[in-house]
Amino acid sequence: MEEETPLTTHPPHVLIFPLPLQGPVNCMLKLAELLCLHDLHVTFLNTEHIHQRLLRYSNVESYFKRYPNFNFGTIPDGLSDNNSRTMDQISNLINSMEEVTKPLLMEMVTSGSLGKNSNKPLSCIVADGIFCFAVDIAREIKVPLLFFDTISPCGLWTYLCVPKLIETGELPFSGDSLDEPIKNVPGMEGILRRRDLPSFCRTKDINIPLIKLVLKEDEHLPLSQGLILNTFDDLENPIISQLQTISLNVYAIGPLHSHLKSKLSSSKPPTSSNIFEEDKSCMAWLDMQPPNSVVYVSIGSLAVMTKKQLIEIWYGLVNSGSRFLWVQRLGSITEPEDELNEVPLDLFEATRERGLVVSWAPQELVLGHEAIGGFFTHSGWNSTLESLVAGVPMICWPYVVDQQVNSRYVEEVWKLGLDMKDTCDRKIVERMIREVMVTRRYEFKQMLNRMAKLAQDSVSDGGSSYHNLNRLIKDIKMMRF
Ligand code: UDX
Repeated sequence: MEEETPLTTHPPHVLIFPLPLQGPVNCMLKLAELLCLHDLHVTFLNTEHIHQRLLRYSNVESYFKRYPNFNFGTIPDGLSDNNSRTMDQISNLINSMEEVTKPLLMEMVTSGSLGKNSNKPLSCIVADGIFCFAVDIAREIKVPLLFFDTISPCGLWTYLCVPKLIETGELPFSGDSLDEPIKNVPGMEGILRRRDLPSFCRTKDINIPLIKLVLKEDEHLPLSQGLILNTFDDLENPIISQLQTISLNVYAIGPLHSHLKSKLSSSKPPTSSNIFEEDKSCMAWLDMQPPNSVVYVSIGSLAVMTKKQLIEIWYGLVNSGSRFLWVQRLGSITEPEDELNEVPLDLFEATRERGLVVSWAPQELVLGHEAIGGFFTHSGWNSTLESLVAGVPMICWPYVVDQQVNSRYVEEVWKLGLDMKDTCDRKIVERMIREVMVTRRYEFKQMLNRMAKLAQDSVSDGGSSYHNLNRLIKDIKMMRF
């Protein structure tokens, strides 16, 4: 970007609009805090549904107390309270936002009704990459637009290669084998098999809503002034280089949770952005467990499992002999609650002896606890980065979208754990837990220690993410439409 003088002497005002899901909201709030710490004004726009949950389960006031230049705004997502906002309804939610939220947002920004920050003209919009409608809004009000894709860059790159996969006949799959290598994702040759592509690629019909959304994102992404990513150069350099071929300016500023921590003084407790009720009691339980003895199990905010899968994982955990802390989110088991009575009694007994089940945990704190030795995860991108930074080896059981790519990278490229995708058998769970906790622990820990150090270096003074955040802030100050 050319050297120019700032447009005004006023601090820039940035509107941040995340995809209304726990992972993206966590991630974008961290960016919001970082911008506020650099004296920018931020309006953080939540859907009403998400904001109600934040008000209920997080200390929203702490943002206002800490950052006088921060404000929340809210907007409807177009769905009623009875509508589900689960993963299988994600395209519904996004389409509803295009139809209902887009005109409301247009009205909001053109009339300047952005709450506390209304008197400050917008300098820039930062929107989730899936919100293609943000391009029209930014054009209408002549304000620069940056997309922030909070999924993994390795996952994002496979999304962006979907047109090429269709053009070359790799999509839809011909035949049933999921082990065929994928040839048309540049930079990932020899890494990806069909089963490692995003979950929506497993279809015979490429006209499904999620693929349509991804194709639309592919067209709109290059129309923004830049792309923000939650990653760091040493982790995904080859992929960042690929993304630089489609976006003018790429800003890899992650891992964001660690970046924020490095800028906050240690006396300040972290802000919380839970949309579920957190159960902190597990921290006292962890204090009573020996170092590296506990497997932490969590499938994030959206993934679900059947009761049969629950029992296989449970037996795998119990038979491995490890202790475990398990987040069983309300609604994450797909059969009715009363059927849980059918879980064999020996599983409950073993859990009483060396396990704990909670409905939502303070995950960053949990992963940082010395009792944790492994993480059984759905490979959501935030969880993957949080595990990497904490140096905890992973057993990956991906559920949807980018998670299939992430789990492949964890095992095959970064060597930070094992990929259990497409299986759910108690013997495999047991074997993988033993490998991560005991037999291959040293090997994974060595790679993790190295990667965690690189992550820390990237967000420290002079590191790549540190430098990229400064560049992002400088560019926001200089940006013209
Ligand atoms: C997902 C993933 O970001 C992404 O990979 C996918 O494409 C769509 O959205 P989610 O499934 O919730 O989000 O996973 P993840 O990215 O791991 O985010 C979950 C967040 O919730 C993490 O920051 C984690 O620390 C937090 N969490 C999870 C808790 O605080 N407590 C818990 O008990 C579980």
